[in-house]
Amino acid sequence: MKLNSTELGKVFLAPLSGVADSPFRRICKRLGAETVYSEMVSCEGLTRQNRLSFEILRFHEEEHPIGIQIFGNDPGRMAEAARIVEATHADFIDLNMACPTRKIVAHGAGCALMLQPETARAIAKAVVRATSLPVTAKLRLGWDEDNINVIEFARMLEDVGIKALGIHGRTRKQGFKGRAAWERIAEVKANVSIPVILSGDVREASDVASAFEKTGCDAVMVARGVYGRPWIFRAIHRHLEGKPFNEPAPEQIYKIILDHLDMAIEHYGQSLAAIRFRKHLLWYTRAMPGVVALRPMMSRVRTRTDVVSLLEKIFGKNLSDVRDL
Ligand SMILES: Cc1cc2nc3c(=O)[nH]c(=O)nc-3n(C[C@H](O)[C@H](O)[C@H](O)COP(=O)(O)O)c2cc1C
Repeated sequence: MKLNSTELGKVFLAPLSGVADSPFRRICKRLGAETVYSEMVSCEGLTRQNRLSFEILRFHEEEHPIGIQIFGNDPGRMAEAARIVEATHADFIDLNMACPTRKIVAHGAGCALMLQPETARAIAKAVVRATSLPVTAKLRLGWDEDNINVIEFARMLEDVGIKALGIHGRTRKQGFKGRAAWERIAEVKANVSIPVILSGDVREASDVASAFEKTGCDAVMVARGVYGRPWIFRAIHRHLEGKPFNEPAPEQIYKIILDHLDMAIEHYGQSLAAIRFRKHLLWYTRAMPGVVALRPMMSRVRTRTDVVSLLEKIFGKNLSDVRDL
């Protein structure tokens, strides 16, 4: 799928706050994610020069094409944030109209915008006017089962110049539970002319082919399915090509983990990297034999040496002949 002249491909890494930061996005890119999103960033934070918000904007050259996702409730501030994002040379700007978290919706942002179509419209219009970058949006089906309005919403956003739509096939009330209703995403696709990117329940490589087939969507996003196995993108491409995929051998997983760790250190510095890396370490190793007893140590790693010594315990020391995946 294309956005203006930029080819975005068909298989995206979803926006994942607290998970898909720059080092993880780079790993996913190397393993076949065609487009990535930043973690969502607050327009209030950006426009008030909040250091942590600007931290979220940092990305590496190899992440292109990348969309930076912003959230907020005020059209003027969202437009100002879009101008700040444009200066990062990201490839597109995504508007978060999907986040279900209480502290976000309490401020009228995220999925709360689906209850305020006029505000959502004003935001989309203001951002489209403020930037020369393509602007996309991510939605849910609606607030709850009694307020499913994704089709009207999608049409309204297309009308004001939104260039593509990510649709998470759940309501705000569902949160992240229950089945994602792909059939509703198919209805959205049939009702708009802009590209639709499916989100929800893409867990296995085979899910992608059936998502395309059942919905006619233009691309899919992988979210929780990527935890601890960024090679899912390779598996998806192989599956779409009708070729078999061999799960990576332990030494290949070990190499991916180390590459990821070193990029995290490059990005954050050693101590913050180790803290941010803990959850990835748990996910990467969750299926390894004998790992349960080591989990408390994983939650306490502070340095690269701590991580490597744990990995040696899990994978063994004889990992010299490591082939790349
Ligand atoms: C930990 C976590 C963080 C997320 N952060 C974001 C975010 O920043 N922006 C966003 O639009 N969606 C976010 N999502 C939603 C995902 O992008 C995706 O739409 C959702 O998880 C459904 O896909 P799945 O069933 O494949 O997990 C997040 C989801 C999770 C689990």
